[in-house]
Amino acid sequence: MKVFNIGIIGFGGFGKFLFNAWNQLDNVQVTAIADINAAAMTGIEHVNFFADWKEMILSENIDLIAIVTEPSTHQVIANACMRAGKHVLIEKPLAISKSNAEDIIKTRNQTGVVAAIDFIMRFNPLLQTIRSLTQAGVFGKLRRVDVENYAQDEQLPPEHWFWHHDRSGGILIEHAVHFIDLVHFLSPSKHLTVNGLKHNRNALQEDQIMANVLYESGLIATHYHSFARPGFFETTDIKLSYDIADIQLHGWIPLSAEVKVLVNEQSKGKLFSNPHFECLHAELIESATDESRPAGWGLSDIDTLKDTHFVRSAGVLYEADEMITGRFSLRRSKQEVYTDCVKSSLLDVLNKISDSSHTLMASLESGLSSLEIAELATISARNNS
Ligand SMILES: NC(=O)c1ccc[n+]([C@@H]2O[C@H](COP(=O)([O-])OP(=O)(O)OC[C@H]3O[C@@H](n4cnc5c(N)ncnc54)[C@H](O)[C@@H]3O)[C@@H](O)[C@H]2O)c1
Repeated sequence: MKVFNIGIIGFGGFGKFLFNAWNQLDNVQVTAIADINAAAMTGIEHVNFFADWKEMILSENIDLIAIVTEPSTHQVIANACMRAGKHVLIEKPLAISKSNAEDIIKTRNQTGVVAAIDFIMRFNPLLQTIRSLTQAGVFGKLRRVDVENYAQDEQLPPEHWFWHHDRSGGILIEHAVHFIDLVHFLSPSKHLTVNGLKHNRNALQEDQIMANVLYESGLIATHYHSFARPGFFETTDIKLSYDIADIQLHGWIPLSAEVKVLVNEQSKGKLFSNPHFECLHAELIESATDESRPAGWGLSDIDTLKDTHFVRSAGVLYEADEMITGRFSLRRSKQEVYTDCVKSSLLDVLNKISDSSHTLMASLESGLSSLEIAELATISARNNS
């Protein structure tokens, strides 16, 4: 078994999380760490430490470098690593502008190394389940995604790089790219229109921002992100509205989701054979209550034409005879799932290094397309204020 030597540039909050998770893998050893802050290394032994990443990338015995510094530094560091012949796993956001991200992709193309973005949501088994059932047509077409994210800012003092646009790009670029990418992961389509709105707490802190995105497929996504509240109120809710299903996900590392879906025999089989699915209630459409009209509402000719084996949604006819309510659940802790996601993300890149025919789960192109939307929405939000 080949053991890959990994270097990490940026050993702050997330760099340490990656280090602890990756150390659990048999075919990986983190051999080098670079950070401008030597104190970041306290308690870490048997790893070469570099105060200057430019020295670290010259080490011959490093196969892959993870870039885990603040967003504005990704372009320069990623380009230098690739030119030094190192494969790279770049933290999101890929960069803080579309043009910087395109430059990273150009360098990857010139150097021929393997390069990926760390979109860990793509490795969450719950989201992979929802994606495969979406692709199998179980829920009908995805028409709407609504992301509501209320995050704490107690650990983000005004001087933190997060609030500085020239260092983070702003909330949509630094954070919302995860969720914009989730939309692309579930239902890929080209964006047609993007706009935004935002609120500034003061001259520096742009603490609430939202993006609206219309895709060629007809899907409309809204991403609202606020970094303003105490940790007690930290919540992330993601609502997915399909033609014949509603799915509600909770948490930014979703561990469970509620689902209501109209099924036929075939789609029911696909749903029920999924190991993460649990049925809570099933009833035939003919006996299910449709509360869109209150009791006493006069019947029309249209009502009498209702077929209990077909439903029409957005003009599309779907065969369905049962309504199912249920739950997808991983039955694991956030710590376990998050740790596994970052392990899988690294293993996917290592697979590609070993086997060039492997298709990367999170390509740089996916990093570019979510960044492009985040940037357009940010510009629109700032122009609108
Ligand atoms: N994929 C995810 O789930 C996830 C989660 C959290 C953070 N992130 C991303 O990881 C990156 C880092 O975030 P963080 O929360 O760990 O930030 P952080 O501020 O805690 O850590 C960044 C570290 O980089 C170091 N650094 C900065 N500039 C450097 C340079 N030029 N050379 C060497 N070291 C340098 C800092 O000293 C610090 O230790 C960001 O891009 C962030 O968006 C991703």
